[in-house]
Amino acid sequence: MKILDGKLLSKQIIEEIAQEVQEMKASGQRAPHLAAVLVGEDPASQVYVRNKVRSCEKVGFDSTLIRKDSNITEEELLKIVHELNENEAIDGFIVQLPLPKHIDEEKVTLAIDPHKDVDGFHPVNFGRMAQGLPAYLPATPFGILQMLERYDIEVTGKECVVLGRSNIVGTPISILLSRKARPGNATVALCHSRTKDLKSHTLRADIIVVALGIPEFLTADMVKEGVVIIDVGINRVDDPNAKRGYRLTGDVKYDEVAEKASFITPVPGGVGPMTVTSLIKNTLRAAKKEVYG
Ligand code: GUN
Repeated sequence: MKILDGKLLSKQIIEEIAQEVQEMKASGQRAPHLAAVLVGEDPASQVYVRNKVRSCEKVGFDSTLIRKDSNITEEELLKIVHELNENEAIDGFIVQLPLPKHIDEEKVTLAIDPHKDVDGFHPVNFGRMAQGLPAYLPATPFGILQMLERYDIEVTGKECVVLGRSNIVGTPISILLSRKARPGNATVALCHSRTKDLKSHTLRADIIVVALGIPEFLTADMVKEGVVIIDVGINRVDDPNAKRGYRLTGDVKYDEVAEKASFITPVPGGVGPMTVTSLIKNTLRAAKKEVYG
């Protein structure tokens, strides 16, 4: 069994991007600039946004963090989005989700200029991705592709099973793995809460991507020997012995599944760091005008 070390890999990618940013600056160009909008006090969102801003610093990007109280109105938030759309000094930006209940996330996502949508959440980017056109790929699926590529894991012709059909992970990764591209060309089953006899699917799979948000859902009896496991779950579970009172666990029962797997991502330190790195990559692509010209 080999661990897919997202922490190490993202460090390498961050170093590569830092080198490129240095060269950009040396040639007289300004640094890429990412803005992040964080609304409210959701603890996980605060950690994620902090990591994003830190990664910007590591690669030499400029970053702007806009923090707003959870009682901000939808109208005020939309105004911020419009200002960021117009601001030529900003290459790309994200609005961290989830948003407070009184704000319509779909409306906010639709308001983001697709040219600056480095999260790849806007339907224009999603549609372009689905058709194989240049697009910002959503960060987690993009991170998974990079991981498969850099660890030289063959995907072509393989049986892949994706558990979970979210707009951010499950649905896009199922499209990307089946696209006529590299990595891609897999036969993909997208499984979800209404799937009948889930185990018959997972037992056939060469590669399983689990993105359900259910701690330790995938167990050893559900997988075959040699399977590649990509665990996207980051769940906080109570643990009185842990310093913070909780520990992080994935959607996979790691110890027992790892014994059968050829490759597996740990949680934390697997897909998570790759997601942040992908956002940085997308921002670099935005600054270089690689996607929309
Ligand atoms: N919330 C959880 N993941 C993400 C992400 O990748 N981007 C944004 N904007 N919000 C999130």
